[in-house]
This record gives sequence, structure tokens and C-alpha cells, in this order.
Amino acid sequence: MNERVIEVENLNFSYPDKTIALRNMNFSVSRGESLAIIGPNGAGKSTLLLHLNGVLRGEGTVRVLGEKISKENLKRIREKVGMVFQDPNDQLFMPTVFDDVAFGPLNLYLEREEIEKRVDSILKELGLEGYGKKSPSHLSLGEKKKVSLATVLVLEPEILVLDEPTISLDPGTKRIFIDIYKDIKKTKLIATHDLDLVSQLCSIVVLMDKGTVIAEGACRDILRNKKLLEDHSLEVPASLALNRLKRQE
Ligand SMILES: Nc1ncnc2c1ncn2[C@@H]1O[C@H](COP(=O)(O)OP(=O)(O)OP(=O)(O)O)[C@@H](O)[C@H]1O
Ligand SMILES: [Mg+2]
Repeated sequence: MNERVIEVENLNFSYPDKTIALRNMNFSVSRGESLAIIGPNGAGKSTLLLHLNGVLRGEGTVRVLGEKISKENLKRIREKVGMVFQDPNDQLFMPTVFDDVAFGPLNLYLEREEIEKRVDSILKELGLEGYGKKSPSHLSLGEKKKVSLATVLVLEPEILVLDEPTISLDPGTKRIFIDIYKDIKKTKLIATHDLDLVSQLCSIVVLMDKGTVIAEGACRDILRNKKLLEDHSLEVPASLALNRLKRQE
């Protein structure tokens, strides 16, 4: 059986204002898998992801690479789970792009030369050559999204967690992002309502609503289930609907 790198068991979480965001959540991710968490606004997707590197701590069990998250192993877990937040403004806080991307490696006490090499290489890979001295606050949203991804990839995490990675991107930039994600051969967990992205990147889909799992299965089965998707404020992605039309012609 494939090694399970993330295991969530009976997870419940309420925010301080008593909003119940997760209700008895159960799911797991196997090594190398690309799994999508889909669901309407407010379903609890971001809340769930924030439990995977201990930003939030609910009742229940979250295991990463076989280890239950605790105060003692939090730093180690965060090195293994790279999380790109939904809003890049939550990720970027340094005066320059270089400083933001170098921040994580500096905390790992890597040598200055090694850090510069890693930062330059990741910026180049993401098409951000020459952006190092720019202020993140002056970048466009798509550029900020790329820099956010760079701050995570530079640490070479084992598991990549992406929250709404394509939101607000123009179609061309979205295609570039999808190609970048396709090239990253790591375990990926992606929360989104962009089902076109899911159809291109993910093999397994977990549909959640009101803080719990509604359905789980192969991407092709869930994304073609019109009723299930529409019952939860989603729709069959245009690319799949188009294929169906073509077959009928
Ligand atoms: N800091 C907070 N305090 C109180 N309630 C919150 C807080 N953050 C989120 N919530 C609530 O928790 C629920 C789940 O929110 P969450 O952001 O996890 O949903 P989501 O599925 O990521 O939605 P979206 O698709 O809009 O990103 C919502 O009802 C939301 O209003
Ligand atoms: Mg969200």
C-alpha cells in the first residue's frame, strides 16, 4: 500500500466566535499523489489546510509523515510541508523579493552563498529573473503569487499545499502556473474551486461542504457528476463539458 503522508482523523475545529468550520473531517493523502480539496466558499478548505502545518490546532488527529503534530515537532513539520496561502499578502512581508525568498533558508542557517544560489535559481525557474530587488508590495497579484510559491519551493518541502493557486490569474499566467505545478513531482494538496485546474492536475478529489467530507473519489468521476457538483455550488468544468459536446457532435 502507498505510504500515507497526511492523515486527518475526526478533526473538529471552531473559531473563537464559535463558527464551526470543521466537523469530523477524515481524509488522507498518499505519497506522490495530487489531491484536490474542492467545495464552495466557506466550506472549510482553508481552515483544513491551516491544520496541516499547525497554524490552527483543532480537536482530533493530524499526522504528517507518520508524526502527530505537536509543539515539539512543529518546526520540523513546517520544513516538510510547504504552504502557499490563499492571499499572497499573508505570505510576503519583507522589503524586497530577494529577502522574502531568502527568509526561510536564512532561518535554516544555510551559507549566504548557498542561499543566493538557491534564490536566484528559483526566481529564474518561475520567470522572475531580475525581480530580486523589487518590493513585493509593488508587484501585480499574479507576480505576488509567483513570489509566494518561490518562498515555499526554495525550502524544497516534501509536501506542497496550495490554497487557491489560480485565483485572480489571467489565463496565460494560469497556464504557466499549471505547467509549473505539473513539473513539481511532489505530493500536492490543492484547495480550490477552479475545477479546470483540478481536471488538469489532480487524480483524487475530496469534495467538502459545511466543514465535512461529502464525497471522495477519482477526479474523472467526481468532476463529471453534474448533480453532485451543482448541489454544492460548483459546476462541471468547461473543458470537460466541451469534450462531452464534441462527442455528441
Ligand atoms: N478567523 C475566523 N473567524 C471566524 N470565522 C472564520 C474565520 N476564518 C474563517 N471563518 C469561517 O469558517 C468557515 C470556513 O472558512 P474557510 O475560509 O476555511 O472556507 P473556504 O472553503 O476556504 O472558503 P473560500 O472558498 O471562500 O476560500 C466560514 O464559515 C468562515 O466564515
Ligand atoms: Mg479558502
